[in-house]
Amino acid sequence: MPTWGMGGCSVFLEINDLNTYYGPSHVLQGISLTVAKGEIVALLGRNGMGKSTTLKTIMGLAKPKSGQVVFQGNSIFGNPPHKVSMAGIGYVPEERRIFPNLSVEDNLLIGVKGGVIDQSNPDAWTLEKMYEVFPSLKKRRTNKGANLSGGEQQMLAIGRALMGNPSLLLVDEPTEGLAPIIVEAVRDILAEINKMGVSILLVEHNLNVAMSLAHRVYLMGKAHIGFVGTVKELDNNPDARAQYLEV
Ligand SMILES: Nc1ncnc2c1ncn2[C@@H]1O[C@H](COP(=O)(O)OP(=O)(O)O)[C@@H](O)[C@H]1O
Ligand SMILES: [Mg+2]
Repeated sequence: MPTWGMGGCSVFLEINDLNTYYGPSHVLQGISLTVAKGEIVALLGRNGMGKSTTLKTIMGLAKPKSGQVVFQGNSIFGNPPHKVSMAGIGYVPEERRIFPNLSVEDNLLIGVKGGVIDQSNPDAWTLEKMYEVFPSLKKRRTNKGANLSGGEQQMLAIGRALMGNPSLLLVDEPTEGLAPIIVEAVRDILAEINKMGVSILLVEHNLNVAMSLAHRVYLMGKAHIGFVGTVKELDNNPDARAQYLEV
């Protein structure tokens, strides 16, 4: 297993020279990145650079033309979404995709692989464990998805992805459109999930949130990675921030 510098963490997700097209437009032009076990990696950049497409390509929702996607030592390149999910990767899309006519609890149960909670695995997510970590969902467990606030919908989208017991979570713009106090709550939940052992690849427009959570940061320019470094290195690099972020 290859390792990267700090702490000798082993590489968990490795993407090499990934190319993805939408029709004729070449929206990922040789993306390479890694996420180590236990790491939170932030993928940042202006609108339209290809951040969401990077997550969708890993997840099998956008079809890559060439490159490598290796998860826990196995190639998942070009695999369909259900296979990527079975391999242990969870996805929280930008649009959240809550089922409006289902209760909070039924929305959570949709995230259970094979529809049956694995009682034999003490580490598996159950509704009880979910409600401990997400007390706001417990209070709303019989409410329909449509009746939730934006923050509650985001918590539900994260909770639903966790019900599949992912070891890596891909999260796209989780704090978008939320009030500052809810942004903090979502931030804290992601930190807690990471402490529970889930690695996270986070696309985020809120630089403070990203910098407070991430171990390392990738900045995307149009269709490519323009910068990679630790949070401290980005903090010390005003040129990279000016080039790739709206600051
Ligand atoms: N389904 C699609 N069909 C065609 N072009 C798309 C589609 N989704 C995104 N794009 C284009 O691909 C580029 C990257 O988009 P996206 O990955 O959503 O960027 P980001 O998440 O960084 O804002 C943009 O130019 C966008 O307009
Ligand atoms: Mg996006």
